[in-house]
Amino acid sequence: MGKITIAIHSYKGGTGKTTMCANLGYLLANRGYNICIADLDFRAPSLHVFFKHRHPRAYITDYLEDKTGLNSVLLDQTKNLNITKGRLFTAFSNPNPSEITKLLSKDKKAQMKVLKKLIEMNQFLHDKFVPNIDVIFLDSSPGLMYDSINSLTIADVAILIMRGDNLDTQGSTLLLNDIYTKIDGKVYVLLNKVQKDFNIARARSKFKQDILNVIPCYCEIQNHDALIASLKLPKNHHFNNCLNDVVSKLEKEIKKR
Ligand SMILES: Nc1ncnc2c1ncn2[C@@H]1O[C@H](COP(=O)(O)OP(=O)(O)O)[C@@H](O)[C@H]1O
Ligand SMILES: [Mg+2]
Repeated sequence: MGKITIAIHSYKGGTGKTTMCANLGYLLANRGYNICIADLDFRAPSLHVFFKHRHPRAYITDYLEDKTGLNSVLLDQTKNLNITKGRLFTAFSNPNPSEITKLLSKDKKAQMKVLKKLIEMNQFLHDKFVPNIDVIFLDSSPGLMYDSINSLTIADVAILIMRGDNLDTQGSTLLLNDIYTKIDGKVYVLLNKVQKDFNIARARSKFKQDILNVIPCYCEIQNHDALIASLKLPKNHHFNNCLNDVVSKLEKEIKKR
């Protein structure tokens, strides 16, 4: 079985990146894969909200600044979530506002160092960590800043999530044409939180990239802060069906490697 790193990215914030990382990671772990989700959205860390009851000894931001090793950053969420087949680990980013401000002032040289540390993290998790991680999800910062590019650079697969409104579509198209064409990995588009009257056929003709799914905007999801859908929504809820469909497509991608 192959090992894969998947960057989840978007042009705008609030498209559902963290929701997707947490849910796809959870579902793949339930299918027997060892998963690590790393919060690389340093400006708006939120992965920790999905896994409320656990606090790490250190944050991924400490690792990137050479203050600690990855072992003190990783938390095993497997038992918490009653996952029986695979394992699920998280690496949270420091949500403390003063730490966020510090990170934002990093210059280009410091960003290059972050990239080097991310490459090392990728190799460590896939090859040295016990258990070896099959799938790493990178919950990336939105937009075009260095930290987004860093995470796209180390990914084998990039998933660009968009809502499909005009502004988001324009920005996402720019990313797909200018940035994504320069990266090596496979690129998917995932439409999430689309409105009822969304024209799916038009979207499919607009993007040459594979569209993983088109997921409607559900009030019952919007009203949850941090939702692992298969734990809270009815099994046959359309959102769960969409997530399972995306997971099956990703599984094919994993098995190719
Ligand atoms: N399909 C959906 N329908 C409605 N709300 C959604 C959907 N997907 C995600 N959300 C909600 O959108 C908000 C932003 O999601 P989040 O994953 O935090 O976005 P991001 O990480 O891209 O900023 C959250 O309240 C989340 O529950
Ligand atoms: Mg987020």
